[in-house]
Amino acid sequence: MTSYTAYEVSESADGAYTGAIVQKQQADLPAGDILIEVLYSSVNFKDALSASGNKGVTRHFPHVPGIDAVGKVVESSTESLPVGEDVIVTGYDLGMGTAGGFGQRIRVPAAWVARLPKGMSPRSAMVFGTAGLTAALCVDKLLKNGVVPESGSVLVTGSTGGVGIVACALLVKLGFDVVASTGKPDQAERLLAMGVKEIVARETLSEDNPRPLLKETYAGAVDVVGGKTLANVLKVLRHNGSVAACGLVESTELQATVLPFILRGVNLLGVDSVEIPLSKKQQMWDLLADEWALNNLDELAEDIALTQLAETLSRVLSGGAVGRYVVDLNA
Ligand SMILES: NC(=O)c1ccc[n+]([C@@H]2O[C@H](COP(=O)([O-])OP(=O)(O)OC[C@H]3O[C@@H](n4cnc5c(N)ncnc54)[C@H](OP(=O)(O)O)[C@@H]3O)[C@@H](O)[C@H]2O)c1
Repeated sequence: MTSYTAYEVSESADGAYTGAIVQKQQADLPAGDILIEVLYSSVNFKDALSASGNKGVTRHFPHVPGIDAVGKVVESSTESLPVGEDVIVTGYDLGMGTAGGFGQRIRVPAAWVARLPKGMSPRSAMVFGTAGLTAALCVDKLLKNGVVPESGSVLVTGSTGGVGIVACALLVKLGFDVVASTGKPDQAERLLAMGVKEIVARETLSEDNPRPLLKETYAGAVDVVGGKTLANVLKVLRHNGSVAACGLVESTELQATVLPFILRGVNLLGVDSVEIPLSKKQQMWDLLADEWALNNLDELAEDIALTQLAETLSRVLSGGAVGRYVVDLNA
């Protein structure tokens, strides 16, 4: 196959960004060690930023977004990743400056390519996708900082979104009492059915509160929201509690006092899923295929075709995402 189908975003002279399904030439892909036939990608918040022309994510258009992909090696210049191998690529520059998983072909450096673990189907890999990998990294950081089920309940913000819903599912699986914050009251039942113990309204955490400390409530938290929400999360963590902070859907700003840190020993743990070493990504994928495998994984995602991307990306950008969206490149 020398040409392939992709969802490409173009910039018009008046500064608008529009996506369309186009035929691309394999020869136009960037240089790289590994050519991959993409089977599935997924929709992540960063894709919505890229597709809407956010220059912090993607500088040059036309561009094929898609920050993750699972598929088969079609051409390889590396013996360790032979033709026919099932592989996963997430992060680094994929879907940002490099043509991404919303096309049926990607070409990338070998250093970006993880192996699809045995026991994990290609589709399952993209139900997790970058969001699920990030949720796993957040849970891993909490555990490494001493947050265990016996420590007390764990709060998850943006809990119906991609990172949030996988974080809830993983924490429930590991035996934590999970409290989910959401701006979608109609999704409360779904979260409770997954094993979440309690729902908190999104506004409770995002409101302005001048007090530097609030009642000690949670042993840990996963925060995808940033802004006032993260500032409030710091105030309600218990002594020695930790928050794994990975997102910015509300804001990149953080206005906080040092009091939670110096009076309660609270830990603010940054989580990056993009530039971490490939070996760490592989370790997390292997864990997600085995000890952390989720029985309810299929329920967390909806499958979409390239033709549904435009609508799905704008829903994600407006905060309306519910769970994960798996992009089937052959649908
Ligand atoms: N650090 C990393 O490596 C990394 C990796 C992946 C993602 N991220 C970041 O993590 C964040 C979440 O990603 P995602 O893929 O889970 O996004 P998503 O699927 O769009 O979910 C975000 C969720 O946040 C909540 N939300 C939306 N707007 C909000 C607002 N203004 N204030 C408070 N909550 C709001 C909503 O959940 P509720 O309605 O349930 O509240 C929404 O579903 C993004 O900022 C993304 O860039 C970072």
